[in-house]
Amino acid sequence: MKVFGFGLIFCAVAHCQSSIVQTRTIALIPSANPTPTPIPTPSSDPSSQHNRTRQSKHVHEFFKSFGWLQRDRTIKDGDLPAAIKKIQKVLNEPETGVYDERMETMMSRPRCGTEQPYNETDATLIGTAPHKRYVLWGPKWDHTSITYSFINYTGDLPSSRQQAIVSAAFAQWTQFLPISITPATAASSKTDIHIRFMSMGASESAYAFTNMIADGLSLSSGLINITFNDDYNWLDDRMFNFTAVHEIGHSLGLSHSKVENSIMWPYYEGIIRPMHPDDQAAVHTIYGWKNPRWKSIDANAGTKAIVHVSSSTTSTSSSAIDGLYQFRSTGQILWYNTAGTWVSVDNNKDTAQITGANGVLYQRHTDGSIYRYATQGAAWQNIGGPSESTIDIVAAADQIYQRRKDGWVARWSGTGQTWTAIEQPSAQISKQIAVTDNKTLWNLLSSGDVVRSEWPYSNGGWQIVDANAANVAIAVGGEEFYKLQSDGSVVWLDLTAYLWRIIENAGSVAIHGIGIYLYSRHKDGSVWRYTGTPDTWEQLDGVASSAGVVGDRKGAVWELLASGEVSRLVS
Ligand SMILES: *[C@@H]1O[C@H](CO)[C@@H](O)[C@H](O)[C@H]1NC(C)=O
Ligand SMILES: *[C@@H]1O[C@H](CO)[C@@H](O)[C@H](O)[C@H]1NC(C)=O
Ligand SMILES: *[C@@H]1O[C@H](CO)[C@@H](O)[C@H](O)[C@H]1NC(C)=O
Ligand SMILES: *[C@@H]1O[C@H](CO)[C@@H](O)[C@H](O)[C@H]1NC(C)=O
Ligand SMILES: *[C@@H]1O[C@H](CO)[C@@H](O)[C@H](O)[C@H]1NC(C)=O
Ligand SMILES: *[C@@H]1O[C@H](CO)[C@@H](O)[C@H](O)[C@H]1NC(C)=O
Ligand SMILES: [Zn+2]
Repeated sequence: MKVFGFGLIFCAVAHCQSSIVQTRTIALIPSANPTPTPIPTPSSDPSSQHNRTRQSKHVHEFFKSFGWLQRDRTIKDGDLPAAIKKIQKVLNEPETGVYDERMETMMSRPRCGTEQPYNETDATLIGTAPHKRYVLWGPKWDHTSITYSFINYTGDLPSSRQQAIVSAAFAQWTQFLPISITPATAASSKTDIHIRFMSMGASESAYAFTNMIADGLSLSSGLINITFNDDYNWLDDRMFNFTAVHEIGHSLGLSHSKVENSIMWPYYEGIIRPMHPDDQAAVHTIYGWKNPRWKSIDANAGTKAIVHVSSSTTSTSSSAIDGLYQFRSTGQILWYNTAGTWVSVDNNKDTAQITGANGVLYQRHTDGSIYRYATQGAAWQNIGGPSESTIDIVAAADQIYQRRKDGWVARWSGTGQTWTAIEQPSAQISKQIAVTDNKTLWNLLSSGDVVRSEWPYSNGGWQIVDANAANVAIAVGGEEFYKLQSDGSVVWLDLTAYLWRIIENAGSVAIHGIGIYLYSRHKDGSVWRYTGTPDTWEQLDGVASSAGVVGDRKGAVWELLASGEVSRLVS
């Protein structure tokens, strides 16, 4: 019970009722007295002059990349601890004011040298959380057919390969946008964006930068240069590919984002980060959306449900089972394969439900029996015999769970048809369960109470997290927990401050979480995605006929309409 000093009460089955009463009196919403975060002991030795110089350089780079420091200013040594605290706030780190290992690791990474224009509001904001979102430069392109050309190439790899990489990098952005970006031809009157390679000297550690010249409102054709530092070896096309996508983001009018997983975060970790909804939201704000924003991929009045099977972040590779599935009233299950074709993976009128996670798909029959599908084309394995007590099944992490009419939750043992019961507060029927990536099992009970148990769910391991008759649904995404209340508000459990925080109050009727994403469907049928910034949701669809939404861990979204039509978000 180290984490929850507040409002969470250990609940052994025998004395649950009294615990529930107690939690009601200290209901978690809202509280003005969050427990302070413990401060870890600093790990770096402040006496090292070499360290201090390097740390100061890193802090300056960080500040300039976010527009927190005027170009000609430096941070005085005495002000460094406060500056470090400001960075720690963005990094979600304890604010110790001490430059630690994590900062050193992150700031030693390849980085972009583009400096953001000084933003006084942001720079002087001390004590409150800086806004965690994309930042727009201001000016944008005033035409929709944009051109680019290379001023010169690096000698590190063939120019045709450089052209292919840059062209693919532009496509990363234009796939969501109602604009085109093409290589300039001899006939083009003007080239908008120039690409060049330049040696920047030993003291410059940035991999690339983009300089931006605008007439105030519009980016100026021919004056936008993406410059790659030719002192680095660009033979590593992983680094080249990612750097190009990031710099192109600047050339479209984006500054650095404070969302660490976004393309526009200024540090690279040597992997190719996929386009993040924060990046998409940013360019959509500037250039609008493709019309239509959704592409229909199936239309069958019999389609009852869609399910996305997505390998968890802890698994090393994606599985051949991963992907989108639909379930029809005839009992048929179809998989949307990588070629964009629906392939039948089963067709049995007894099938009542499908679920899946982490490279495995499951189905439940009307008689309560349960089947598992782990290899495309292979036979379904029967892992649960007929049982009148089975209500439904839920796949999460590498587990499959069933909710039972006797009020218990059980999980498959991994062999034969043996299931292990997970003890829970007695006489409390489970209304819904949800399981995080690290297998923490959250259980919404019929009373509205929310309890949770951590893997491996030892007896008596349930903790009461909330007691509120208004709780109607729960969702998890990664390790985050959310609940929906009967008044239509969506509430997030802030595990750092130990508080419930209302993140939406707009008539939600359903929530769906996956990885870092949370979706909310409103009474009016519209579908929204949480941006991670308080009170800020992005509308994905405004139609009144949405019947369900699912997503994957990279931000792709599919919607099921009441008519049975299935669509994919393209913009
Ligand atoms: C330098 O700082 C790092 C952390 O940033 C720390 O691990 C290391 O011990 C420090 N070295 C000296 C000599 O202070
Ligand atoms: C400056 O920063 C604030 C707070 O982060 C932000 O709301 C505002 O849009 C920024 N201004 C400009 C011109 O980017
Ligand atoms: C590319 O052109 C720039 C001038 O824009 C020059 O400084 C640089 O040395 C050239 N790079 C190569 C590889 O020729
Ligand atoms: C962009 O690159 C061209 C060619 O190297 C150069 O002439 C021009 O000055 C650069 N523009 C800016 C704003 O750096
Ligand atoms: C980089 O982009 C090129 C061109 O699209 C592609 O062929 C190559 O596989 C990419 N490299 C990596 C590591 O993804
Ligand atoms: C799993 O995540 C929960 C938050 O949902 C956290 O409280 C718990 O400590 C995590 N458990 C492990 C084993 O990481
Ligand atoms: Zn940048």
